[in-house]
Parts: sequence; structure tokens; C-alpha cells
Amino acid sequence: MTNNIFLNSVRTFWIYTTASFCLILAICVLSFQFGLFQQVFAQEPKSKEPVAIASTTPVPKGLSKWEKPDLAIILTAQQHGYLLPCGCSRPQVGGLERRYNFVQALKTNGWNITAVDLGDLSQKQGPVSLPNEQGLIKYRYAMNAQKKIGYSAVGFGEYETALPLFNALAEYALNEPSPRVVAANLLERDKEFPDQVAAWHKMEIQGTDIKVGVTSVVSPNVAEKIKDPRVKFGPSKSALDSVLKEMNQQNMQLRLLLYQGVLNRSPKGEPVTEALKASQTFPEFQILMCLSEEDEPSANPVVVNHENKNQSLIIRMGTKGKYVGILGVYKTGNPTQPFKFRYTIEQMSEDYLTPESAKKNHPVMELMESYAKELKNENYLSRFGQARHPVQVSAPNSNPTYVGSEKCKKCHESAYDVWKKSPHSHAYQTLVDAKEPSLRQYDPECIVCHTVGFGYQSGFSTFEKSPLLINVGCESCHGPSSEHVKKPNDESWYKLINPWKSSAMETPADKESRLGRVDQFCQKCHDIDNDVTWTNKGFERKWPKVAHPNPAAE
Ligand code: HEC
Ligand code: HEC
Ligand code: HEC
Ligand code: HEC
Repeated sequence: MTNNIFLNSVRTFWIYTTASFCLILAICVLSFQFGLFQQVFAQEPKSKEPVAIASTTPVPKGLSKWEKPDLAIILTAQQHGYLLPCGCSRPQVGGLERRYNFVQALKTNGWNITAVDLGDLSQKQGPVSLPNEQGLIKYRYAMNAQKKIGYSAVGFGEYETALPLFNALAEYALNEPSPRVVAANLLERDKEFPDQVAAWHKMEIQGTDIKVGVTSVVSPNVAEKIKDPRVKFGPSKSALDSVLKEMNQQNMQLRLLLYQGVLNRSPKGEPVTEALKASQTFPEFQILMCLSEEDEPSANPVVVNHENKNQSLIIRMGTKGKYVGILGVYKTGNPTQPFKFRYTIEQMSEDYLTPESAKKNHPVMELMESYAKELKNENYLSRFGQARHPVQVSAPNSNPTYVGSEKCKKCHESAYDVWKKSPHSHAYQTLVDAKEPSLRQYDPECIVCHTVGFGYQSGFSTFEKSPLLINVGCESCHGPSSEHVKKPNDESWYKLINPWKSSAMETPADKESRLGRVDQFCQKCHDIDNDVTWTNKGFERKWPKVAHPNPAAE
């Protein structure tokens, strides 16, 4: 079967998507690009209204120019544990709730929809330096949310096998056939994981008779990184040959390959072994989705021209679930070229926030609330061990502990006043007050930056056990200070609790490098995800708001 790809439409939508993406990130965008946006889309009024999921819902803006496709396939990948929008400060992007709203908006407009995910649903590591205690539970909630959204199939890769895979499948696929977990080249599939992983999946899609088959393979480069002893992969070639044979027997017209590998890697001139090669070797798959090495997705698919003049599209979706890909499938009526495609990506921006009227019984919001409740009920906070803080490591004979910010007040009144007025002093309350979902003060992945010393010996563990260590306190930055409180004049502690002290002889260059170290330190919490406002001289703007030099030194 042959297909013709409308290159022009791909190009058009690439321009569109780039422009709208830039608008959202207007702060960091060149005025040239902004001008481009205005030029191309000046006539189009920009809708600020969130997309309501009622019958009056408009088709999401990126798709409003599209003729309604016979089938639309939503493509996602590499969510890496971001069930919720990524980060703390606005604008936040992503999250499964918005993805649901987006898909729902299309469905209410009568679109026939299905969705597939490449895998790497949960995270591989915990945040900051925490262990990955929450990977498994997040996997289950992510799969449940995908079911509510209407996914038919999902692959898996390095991240799921780190859970390890057996546990991940026991969390979900053991009891739930949908979305179907697929992996064509997983060895001993039926013996090790009976009924939990299929070689490929024939999609049942409401409203269309288009026959779609989806499969997945794990590339040699990804397989090499997998340490799970029960998980071994055979060569893709033989696995896909037999899948294709079955797909042909069952008359699949559209064939999708979820490729757990990057687009192209040819180390030291060796032949390419990754997705590009797979697409060239298996022209029968019109659509391939492979791993993205960047956070942001590429808006235009890679078009692969086959020797027989057919083409395939390779799609990459970026990471953290910030975007979804939308593949429009149009029947041509021509049996040798049965489909045309259109492709675009859409950022899960605040346009897809759930409107007030749709919050009641919202299936994904309910799931997120249950997730938060489960963390509380299962007491995830207590599952984390306590490592030794660098100050504790450096002082092996005295073992300093955390004492809380109130202890510092009497001797460091002015520093205390600065701190008390800063948002650091109520960072815990911020979590208590959070809604949708609530109960964030029981989520270790939030607590770690909103309290003192979580994950370190004698640091915050639970509110009951360590009520004095809530909020970002003095010791969040200075480290455990019990010994200094006991012996305030013992100068040997000073450099341990203040490694950023200026020397009397400090040159401007010294000062710059010292403040550079402070900046780096702040970014342990004010990282790119949790404080998108840190870039562009964030430190210069924010340090003066919390700086607390000794009054005597001024
Ligand atoms: C009993 C009084 C006292 C208490 C309580 C106290 N300090 Fe100090 N602290 C001092 C003195 C005295 C110094 C040395 C003079 C100075 O730098 O203010 C000092 C210095 C410091 C320095 C600067 C070290 C340097 O030389 O750069 C830091 C940081 C510090 N204290 C943090 C804390 C923290 C955090 C707490 C609470 C956990 C605390 N202190 C509690 C008396 C105290
Ligand atoms: C232990 C984690 C942590 C560290 C380290 C940290 N912060 Fe924060 N910071 C937070 C949290 C959490 C908030 C949000 C508090 C709230 O509103 O609940 C915050 C808020 C702020 C705010 C107010 C909001 C804003 O962005 O304007 C400033 C200013 C700030 N931090 C500056 C700094 C500076 C400067 C440093 C480094 C010297 C630093 N922080 C280090 C966690 C941290
Ligand atoms: C890596 C550290 C880190 C983690 C993990 C973290 N936060 Fe934050 N949080 C921050 C910082 C830093 C700020 C201040 C950001 C700013 O000023 O823009 C902040 C601010 C906030 C704010 C206030 C935002 C505002 O605009 O006032 C909320 C709410 C919040 N965090 C909730 C959460 C929740 C919920 C989680 C867990 C899902 C979480 N945080 C995990 C570092 C973190
Ligand atoms: C967000 C991180 C942060 C928090 C919170 C914080 N400090 Fe500091 N503190 C620093 C840094 C960084 C320096 C060194 C900067 C400098 O000297 O320019 C410092 C310096 C100091 C100094 C030495 C000042 C001087 O002029 O030599 C003292 C004393 C101190 N802090 C005490 C405290 C106390 C007490 C609290 C809590 C009430 C506190 N700090 C909270 C980051 C923090």
C-alpha cells in the first residue's frame, strides 16, 4: 500500500505551531519571530478563553483550520512522571488533566480519536537527590489517566524497566487490558509477562472503519541500558517481520511503530542503528514515533522517502508531556494511496485549564486527587531514608542536627526579619493551601523544596515528627546548625554553615564568582522546572529580596 504525504500542509502547520509557541514564550522570543506571528496571523483573534468541554467547545485553535479528519491520532511520549503541569510558577505547561480536556474538546466536535504513547511514563529518578519511591504509583495513575483519555496502546522503555517492568505491569496491565502495552521484540513475552504485553495491537476506534495496527520495539541502544534481568530484547527485524505478516493478514491499513530509540545515532561513523534506519528498513509503517533527545518537541516530522516513492513520517514529542502531537488521517478513496496526513503539535498551555463548570466529576482531576490521597494514606513521606548532609559529613565527631529557624532569631534578629517577611517563611503553608489536587504537604516530591532538610538526617520528615522544620528555613541554606547554636563563638563552624562568606580582601572578580556559587545553590530549588522566572537575571533580581548581611557589616 502506498501513501502520499502532503508536504505543503506539514510545512504550513509547522509555521503555525512555531509561531503560537513563540507567543506563549513571548518573553524570551526575538521580536523578529513575534513580527512573523503578527504578519501571518494578524487576522486571527487570539482566544484567551479556556477550552470548555461542553457541546459548544470550539476546535482547539491549532486545529481550527483543519478539515475534520476521518481519524485523528494523538501521539505522546516520555512523560517522565509529570502527571501535573510541570513546575511551580506560571506559566505552567503540560499535565494529564489538560490533555484530557484537549482530547475531549475534539471528541465533542465529533472527531474520531485514538491515542498512543511511546512509553517512559514515570520518572527514572526522584527530584533533587531523592530516590525514586514514587515511580510505580505514578505509572499506575498515568496509565489510568490514559485510559480515561482514550488511549489504545502504549510502549515502554528504559524508565518502566527501571521500576522494574514486572512491578510496573503488576500495577496496571495485569488487571487492565487497555491501553494495551505493546513490545514486539520483548523476549519470553508470554512466559514472563503472560497476557500483559502484546506484540502488536489492533485498535478499535469508534466512528471509523480505518484499520489501524500499532506495535513497538526497543532499540539496541536502549536495550543496552536496561538492567532489569527479566527483560531481554531480540532483534527488531525478525520481530517486526512477523508483526507485519500478522498485520497484513488482518488487513491493517495504517501501521504505527513506537520506536524506543532516538532518531539517528551513528557513533564514530558506524552505520545508523536507530529510528531513521528502522523507518527505511520497514517502509510499511507510515508513522513512527521515536524518542526525543530534547525537552521541546520538533514541530515538523521527519519525512522519510522510500525507494518505492512512498513516504513515512517520524515524530518526536519532547519530554514531560508538555505537548501532544496530532496526526490527522484523511481517506483519499484511492486504494493505492488510501490516506493523506496532516500533523501538528499543540502545547498543553493554560488554554486547556479545566473551566469551573467542568470541574465536577472531572475524571482526571479525580484521579489526581486520589493520587495525592494515596500518598498521604500510604505515608510516602516516611518511605524516604535520610542521608548525611555535607555539613554532617564534614563534622564527623559532633553530628550537627537541624534545630529550626526560631532558634536563630535571638542572635540574628535582622536576618530573621528579612527571612520572616520572605515567601521562604511560609513555603509549607503554600503546599497546605494548594488545591486541585490538594494535600500537597504529603507529597515528598513537593516537600523536598518546601521544608528544611528533607532527606537528610534529623531533617524534616513529617509535620508530626518535625513541626519546627516546615518552610524553607535558615538551615535549608546554611545546613544543620545545632552545634553552632550551642557554641556560637566557635569559629570553626562558620565556614561550614556559610561557605559563601566574603573575605575582607575580596576583588570584584572574587565577588562575582562567589555570587555565582550562591546563584548555583539557589537553583537547587529554583530550577528550570520549578522557577521558570529564574532565567534572565533571576538571581540578580531575587537575591536582594532575601539577602541578609549582618547589620554591623554595612
Ligand atoms: C546564641 C547566639 C546565636 C544563635 C542562637 C545563632 N547564632 Fe549564628 N552566629 C552567632 C555569632 C556570635 C556569629 C558570629 C558573628 C556573626 O557573624 O554574626 C554567628 C554567625 C553565623 C553565621 C555566619 C558565619 C560567618 O562567619 O559567615 C551564620 C550563617 C549563622 N550564624 C547562622 C545561624 C543559624 C542558621 C542559626 C540558627 C540555627 C544561628 N546562627 C543561631 C550567634 C548565634
Ligand atoms: C530549599 C529550597 C530553596 C532554596 C535553596 C532557595 N529557595 Fe527561594 N524559594 C523556595 C520556595 C519553595 C519558594 C516559594 C515559597 C512560597 O511562595 O511558598 C521560594 C521563593 C523565593 C522567593 C520569592 C518568590 C520569587 O521568586 O520572587 C525569592 C525572592 C527567593 N525564593 C529567592 C531565593 C534565593 C536568592 C535563593 C538562594 C540564595 C533561594 N531562594 C534559595 C525554595 C528555595
Ligand atoms: C526543586 C524544588 C521544588 C520542588 C520539587 C517543588 N517546588 Fe514549589 N516552588 C519552588 C520554588 C523555587 C518556588 C518559587 C518559584 C517562583 O518564585 O517562581 C516554588 C513555588 C511554589 C508555589 C507558589 C507559586 C506561586 O506562584 O506563588 C506553589 C503553589 C508550589 N511551589 C507548589 C509545589 C508543589 C505542589 C510541588 C510538588 C508537586 C512543588 N511545589 C515542588 C521549588 C520547588
Ligand atoms: C535562601 C538561602 C538562605 C536562607 C533561607 C538564609 N540564609 Fe543566611 N545566608 C545565605 C547566603 C547565601 C549567605 C552569604 C551571602 C553573603 O554573605 O553575601 C548568608 C549569610 C548569612 C550570615 C552572614 C552574614 C554576613 O554579613 O556575614 C548570617 C549570620 C546568616 N546568613 C544567618 C541566617 C539566618 C539566621 C537565617 C534564617 C533566619 C538565614 N541566614 C537564612 C543564604 C540563606
